Amino acid sequence: MSSRYDDTNRTPQEYEVLTGGGAETAEIAKRGISRRQMLRRAAGLTLGVVGAEATLGALMMIYPNLKGLFGSPVTLKAKSTYAGAEQKDISLDQKGLFYESGAKSYILHLLPGGTTAFLLNGMSLDNAMAAQDWVKDSDGSYWLALYQVCVHLGCKVPFRDDCNSFKCPCHGSHYNIDGEYLDGPAPRSADRFTMSFSGGNVQVDTGKLNQHVERPDVGTRVLRTPYVAVCAAS
Ligand code: FES
Repeated sequence: MSSRYDDTNRTPQEYEVLTGGGAETAEIAKRGISRRQMLRRAAGLTLGVVGAEATLGALMMIYPNLKGLFGSPVTLKAKSTYAGAEQKDISLDQKGLFYESGAKSYILHLLPGGTTAFLLNGMSLDNAMAAQDWVKDSDGSYWLALYQVCVHLGCKVPFRDDCNSFKCPCHGSHYNIDGEYLDGPAPRSADRFTMSFSGGNVQVDTGKLNQHVERPDVGTRVLRTPYVAVCAAS
């Protein structure tokens, strides 16, 4: 004769209420398995966890130096090394924009005012900058860490001083100094990393890639387009 506890369609929680027992009792009743089988499964699970921890420990011994290298937070030079510049005056590795090979990133340090023209303002600008991983410094300047890789098919994108923008040599994708999409086949704006300051140095977390900055339109573009109207293929 079947009891009212034999309905295998009941959830473990329903069995717990019916039997007045704990979750384990409910699971046993629900699945129709013995307590010995339950203990065997628990022992197997414990061995699995121990094995995973041992594997992780071995990997950390083989690759002890991942910390500080690409794929993790990378500490770069002192902030003062990266001289800021207005949008029009940016010159690669001289002022405003610096390439850092260890972080595979371009560090943008942009001074507001003058030829730097933010097209949004107020809360709209704040929200766009937060979503795009801009950092506003205490002196009022702005920082950004852009990943060097083109989001079209993965070529390394050079900054072109003559274009006041990034232009990919492979298929012509064109990005503003802050990585915003301008034209070409790229499906979105350039990817960027989370950056911060640590003990007076610039730090880029190359383990955190922001791949969610869409192509901007007139209502979402943060910076004005470059001062060089046409950027010809190199
Ligand atoms: S890889 Fe850059 S445009 Fe195609």
